[in-house]
Amino acid sequence: MDYDILDTSLADGGDLRIEWAASRMPVLEAIKERFIKEQPLAGVRIGACMHVTTETANLMLTLIAGGAEVALCASNPLSTQDDVAAALARAEIPTYAVRGEDSDKFYEHINAVLDTNPHLVFDDGADMTTVLHKERTDQAVVGGMEETTTGVIRLKAMEADDVLRYPIVAVNDSATKHLFDNRHGTGQSSLDGILRASNILFAGKRVVVAGFGDCGWGIATRAKGLGSDVIVTEIDPVRAVAATMEGHRVMTGLEAAELGEVFITATGNIHVFRAEHFARMPDGAIIANAGHFDVELDLIALDEMSVSRRVIRDNLEEFVLEDGRRILVVAEGRLVNLGAAEGHPADVMDMSFADQALAAEWIIQNQDELQAKVYVLPEELDEEVARLKLEAMSGSLEQLTAAQEHYLASWEHGT
Ligand SMILES: NC(=O)c1ccc[n+]([C@@H]2O[C@H](COP(=O)([O-])OP(=O)(O)OC[C@H]3O[C@@H](n4cnc5c(N)ncnc54)[C@H](O)[C@@H]3O)[C@@H](O)[C@H]2O)c1
Repeated sequence: MDYDILDTSLADGGDLRIEWAASRMPVLEAIKERFIKEQPLAGVRIGACMHVTTETANLMLTLIAGGAEVALCASNPLSTQDDVAAALARAEIPTYAVRGEDSDKFYEHINAVLDTNPHLVFDDGADMTTVLHKERTDQAVVGGMEETTTGVIRLKAMEADDVLRYPIVAVNDSATKHLFDNRHGTGQSSLDGILRASNILFAGKRVVVAGFGDCGWGIATRAKGLGSDVIVTEIDPVRAVAATMEGHRVMTGLEAAELGEVFITATGNIHVFRAEHFARMPDGAIIANAGHFDVELDLIALDEMSVSRRVIRDNLEEFVLEDGRRILVVAEGRLVNLGAAEGHPADVMDMSFADQALAAEWIIQNQDELQAKVYVLPEELDEEVARLKLEAMSGSLEQLTAAQEHYLASWEHGT
């Protein structure tokens, strides 16, 4: 069995953390129990390009329990947890991921997974999918899954250009994914990353959140909860109004640059904070990115403006500008929650990865009918995940009475 990881001796620690995450993932565990009995993925080869975390490990174990063979590589150079990679390699899962790997290694690892000829591809950010569409165009694939907003945007562009080669489920677009993972997961864990890197006090800080989508909502809400004065920048008027009604000030990036003390991007866009913003930021400003790619902060421009730079703490680099002002970059501008903390808590990845497991089963069951399009997980599967999660959280659902069901289905009743 082939693999490329940092250090096999880390496996014991990885196993313990994977076990802990499993204990926080009751929905995925319930699916795993069913998969053991029903073997819906028997004989299916899976290639996954995902953050190599304890939660992903549990998804891989669930797919294997369902009969699949799995190979895994990282979906971001800085998100791999090396102890988890070691534990997976020891469990004989071909794993190709080393935290801090360079771009060449990153793509070498993607190609190593693709060399296993997967029927299904699990992607997070569409990098593996892009390799299959640009370089390995003859390789047959039955279907795919996409985990994040940025990946789904890329897939929709591929669908619009009529180049998509196989059906892909936009798992991100399931309600049980983006309304919880992007909001509560990214909200809490992005602040966790900044805290671990800097140990600042959020209370009383002016925190600028760029983008008030699902992730931005989560970050802004949690920062406000910690006592920060939150400023939001947006390009979408509806979301800007939504931010205002949540009690945040909304202004342009240039206005916010002069006021902010902590800046967090969550837009899925490029160069949201760039030279003109860095030129206005106060001494000691901390900048971090929670969006998928490391392009939201223009760090090349920051480097060009700087007279010196040094790593001042783990995952915190200080850039000194010509006038002596310091700007501190968290986790090299990569996903701050995975680069400087452990990513989303297992409690929330429980639903995202339950969606992933059900999407894989659904594609295999429906492969003869599906076309080369971007699909969303059927609503009944999305609702099933929510039902299981509610049950696990000791909630219970109200049931419609017959009269209520009739009322909702009729149109004759009026004022
Ligand atoms: N860190 C994580 O673990 C994690 C988790 C989920 C998603 N993501 C990533 O985070 C990013 C955002 O995801 P989302 O689900 O919140 O997307 P979203 O589409 O819901 O929100 C993005 C928001 O950014 C706004 N925006 C775009 N360009 C902007 C600009 N120049 N200035 C200000 N606002 C701008 C958009 O109008 C939108 O409201 C994506 O890259 C996604 O893949 C990261």
